Amino acid sequence: MEQLSVGHLTGIRDLTREDILTIFQTADAFKQVINRPIKKVPSLRDITIANLFFENSTRTKLSFELAEKRLSADVVNFSASGSSVKKGETLIDTVNNILSMKVDMVVMRHPNPGAAQFLTKKIKAKVINAGDGTHEHPTQALLDAYSIREKLGEVAGKKVVIVGDIIHSRVALSNIYALQKLGAEVMVCGPTTLIPKYIGDLGVKVSHNLREALEWCDVANMLRIQLERQDIQFFPTLREYSQLFGLNKTLLDSLDKEIVVMHPGPINRGVEITSDVADSQQAIILNQVENGVAIRMAVIYLLAAQIERN
Ligand code: CP
Repeated sequence: MEQLSVGHLTGIRDLTREDILTIFQTADAFKQVINRPIKKVPSLRDITIANLFFENSTRTKLSFELAEKRLSADVVNFSASGSSVKKGETLIDTVNNILSMKVDMVVMRHPNPGAAQFLTKKIKAKVINAGDGTHEHPTQALLDAYSIREKLGEVAGKKVVIVGDIIHSRVALSNIYALQKLGAEVMVCGPTTLIPKYIGDLGVKVSHNLREALEWCDVANMLRIQLERQDIQFFPTLREYSQLFGLNKTLLDSLDKEIVVMHPGPINRGVEITSDVADSQQAIILNQVENGVAIRMAVIYLLAAQIERN
């Protein structure tokens, strides 16, 4: 079996192209498993995994938990709300208390960029970043690239535009790294205020015109406007944002080609994407969610293979 070049998954930036292809190949096998009548394998019967969520999540949390259970791991779940974090316990104290219960792997979502990387320096368990603030969301980017490969046959040579709230988006940064490593061309599109000034240094194209971006691309990944992170006013109104940067059916149908539409969820319907686009046959949003389980099974399985067993 191929091995990953990293001991933890904290970001796509650390992965090689070969790592990503190994994860995809492993996910292919697990995708077959989760489409069988018996959707489980006994591979990780001796492994215990803690899911630590210090920030809200629906898809990522459920997807990791399902992936772990499909691999027959023991699973414990922790949410910051309702925990002793509310009584002032530090991250390291919280994690060390959980690890003393003999946990082998930690999946963590945290509001602070770098939190997962920090944890790798402090604990012995394997660490998977399930989203760290505005920094990276590596398993989302892996499942996004995997879904593009599934839909279009390959990622290399494809043109992908990421639209919207780039400045607050861990999904955007992880997608840029993953898509470029796999040989895709990447553009970001949105209002000037939502595109960070450093973005050109990452080798991506920049557009502030949605029609121009859609005419260029094969795939449009429509990001959620992160209303909870709009600490200053980045655009006048949601209505204006939606008119200039929202994807609606009239615009989609007016293109002279059929593009693939993606969204990492959760969707603000009627803001970055209208319902008729989100629910159209050009959208692969639910395929992304389905592929997330296979991708997370692959990542967990490959990292668990590095754990010394007695
Ligand atoms: N795509 C994503 O990370 O969704 P959740 O915030 O629901 O996990």
